[in-house]
Amino acid sequence: MLRRLHPDQPESFAFTPENQAWAEAQMTKFPEGRQASAIIPLLWRAQEQEGWLSKPAIEAVADMLGMAHIRALEVATFYFMFQLQPVGEVAHIQICGTTSCMICGAEDLIAVCKEKIAPKAHQISEDGKLSWEEVECLGACTNAPMAQIGKDFYEDLTAEGFAAMIDAFRAGDVPRPGPQNGRYAAEPLSGLTSLAEGAEGRAASNGSVQLATDLGDTIKRIDGTEVPLITPWLDSGKGKTPKKPAKPAPEKAAKAAQKAPAVETESPAAADEVQPELLTSAGAGGADDLKRLKGVGPKLEALLNDMGIYHFEQIAKWGKGEVAWVDARLKFKGRIERDGWIDQAKAFATEKGSA
Ligand code: FES
Repeated sequence: MLRRLHPDQPESFAFTPENQAWAEAQMTKFPEGRQASAIIPLLWRAQEQEGWLSKPAIEAVADMLGMAHIRALEVATFYFMFQLQPVGEVAHIQICGTTSCMICGAEDLIAVCKEKIAPKAHQISEDGKLSWEEVECLGACTNAPMAQIGKDFYEDLTAEGFAAMIDAFRAGDVPRPGPQNGRYAAEPLSGLTSLAEGAEGRAASNGSVQLATDLGDTIKRIDGTEVPLITPWLDSGKGKTPKKPAKPAPEKAAKAAQKAPAVETESPAAADEVQPELLTSAGAGGADDLKRLKGVGPKLEALLNDMGIYHFEQIAKWGKGEVAWVDARLKFKGRIERDGWIDQAKAFATEKGSA
C-alpha cells in the first residue's frame, strides 16, 4: 500500500505542555547522542494527541530529536500504525482481516463499517465521528473476529453486536472492551477444560478488560494530563540523577565542541534573564546557517533571525542570563543547554574565523 502524506495539512503542530515534558523525558532514556532512538514513542505520542500524524508533527518531532526531516518521514511512512491522514473525531476502528478473523466473520464486520461509517477504508464518516481500516493480525486470534478501537481490543464480535457498538460510540458511549460473547478471556468456547478450580470466584472481567475499564481512555486523545510524569530511570540510580543526554551531534565541529570547556550549566530557568546582543539585520557576509546547531530546523532558525540572532558569534557570547532570555522566548526550556548550542556556536565561529 502506498503511504503518502495527506494533501491537506495543518499549519503547525505543538505538543501540549504535559506531552512536551513527557517527550523530553523519553529522550533522556537514551545515551548521549542517541536521542533519535526516541523517534517512535514521540511520533506515537503526537498521534495519540492529534489522532493522526501530520507533516508539521513529524517535522516537529524530528527537530526535537536533531534529525533530518526525511529520517522522521521515513519512519512515519514505514509503519502502518501511524495514521497519515485525519481519522474520525471519536474513534478510528481497525478490523483484523487476517486468517482466523477472516474465517470467523471479519468480512461481515467490514461490511458493517462500509454501511455505517464510510464506503472506503480511511474515509471519515459524514458526521466526522468515525473512520475505519482493515489491518493485519492483531494477535487475538483465539477471540476472532476482533477489532481494535482506540487503545483496546473488542473480541468475539458478531456483525449485529458490532453494528450496535458503532452506534454506541457515535452516541458518545464507550462499550466495555474484551470478549463480547461472555467469554472471560481466551479459554475454549465450550468452557474450561483445565485449571477450572477457582474459576467460580474470579472477578467478573479479566485483568486487561478491568484495567481498560478503570483507565477509561479507550478512545481518549492523550494530552499528557492523564497520569503524572514518572521517570524512574532518572529518579533512581543510586540517589543520583543522571545527566540529561545532549542531542546527537551531526557535525564534526560539534564533536570538537564537546571537548571545549562546558558553559556554566545552572538551570536557565533559575537565572535572571539578560537580553543578549541582538542585530537588526545579518552582517555583510549574510546570516550564518544556524540550522547547523542541533535541533534547529528552518522554523527555529527563522524565529532566531526574527529575534535578531543571525550569527554563531552572537550565540557563542551567551551566558546563563542570555540563555534564560532566549529560552523563555523560544518556549523550549533547557533546550539550548541540553543541545549544547553555545559550545557548538563557539566551534562554528572559530571554524568561520579560520576559513
Ligand atoms: Fe485476527 Fe489474529 S487473525 S487477531
